[in-house]
Amino acid sequence: MDRHNAEIRRLKDMIDGCSRAVVFTGAGISTESGIPDFRSPNGIWSKTTPIYFDEFVSSEAARREAWRRKFHIDQDIDNAEPNRGHRAVARLVREGVVSAVITQNIDGLHQLSGVPEENIIELHGNGTYAKCLTCATRYDLEPIKKDFLEADIIPECRFCGGLIKGATISFGQAMPEDEMRRAQDATLACDLFIAIGSSLVVYPAAGFPAIAKENGAQLVILNREPTDLDHLADLVLNLEIGPTLGEAANVN
Ligand code: APR
Repeated sequence: MDRHNAEIRRLKDMIDGCSRAVVFTGAGISTESGIPDFRSPNGIWSKTTPIYFDEFVSSEAARREAWRRKFHIDQDIDNAEPNRGHRAVARLVREGVVSAVITQNIDGLHQLSGVPEENIIELHGNGTYAKCLTCATRYDLEPIKKDFLEADIIPECRFCGGLIKGATISFGQAMPEDEMRRAQDATLACDLFIAIGSSLVVYPAAGFPAIAKENGAQLVILNREPTDLDHLADLVLNLEIGPTLGEAANVN
C-alpha cells in the first residue's frame, strides 16, 4: 500500500472511530467545481486585491468595483455543481458522523449537495442575497444586477437610503455573531475536526482547528499545499480533495 493509500486508510479509520466530527471547509473544496480559490498560484488574490469593508463604505468607486467583481465571480458560481468532495461531506452528515459543516465559502455548494441548512455554518456570509448595511433589509440580487449591468446603478436602500452590500463578509467587516457562536459550540463538542481546502491564514475562522485540538479533538488537515497549522494536526493529507474524501466516505 503506498503512502497516499495508507493516509486515506488512516483518515477512514479516524472517521469510523470518532463519535462526533466537524468538517471545516475553504475555497479548495470548490475548485473541482470550477470556482477559483484565493491563494493557489492562479487564485483570485494573484490577480487582484481585496476590497476592505471601510473602502466599500467610503468610496463609490470601491462599491462599483465590488459589485463588478461579485457579478463576475457569480458566473462561475451559477454554473457550479457540487463535486465528489461536497458529496462525501454530505454523506457523512447524512450518516450522522459529521454534526456541522463550518465553511468559509459563500458558493452555497454544501447546501446544493444536500447538507441541511441547520448543519451549515457560513462564517463569511452568503453570496445569494444582499443586505442594507443600515437597516439590514434583505434584497434579491437579480434586480440589483440588472440595474448595475444595464445602467451602472450602485444600489441604495429604498427604505432608509443606506448602502446595500452583498451578504458576504469582507476583510475588516464584523464577523456574524450567531455563526461564530455556533461554530465555537460545534468545535468544542467534536472529537474529530477535519479542515478541508483551506490555507488556514484568515482569522478568526482559522482559529477553530486550533481550538478543536486544544480541546482534545483529533485534527486532520486535507489540503494540496502545506498550511500554517500542519504542526498541530494528527494527520496531514496533501492530496486532491474530491478523490481523497470520496474514497474515505465511499462516495463516487
Ligand atoms: N484539492 C486539495 N486542495 C486544494 C484543491 C483541491 N482540489 N484546490 C485548492 N486547494 C487548496 C489550495 O492549495 C489552498 O491552500 O485549497 C486552499 C485554498 O486556500 P485559499 O485559497 O486561501 O482559500 P481559503 O482558505 O478558503 O481562504 C479563506 O480568505 O480571501 C478570504 O474570504 C476569503 O473565505 C476566504 C478566506
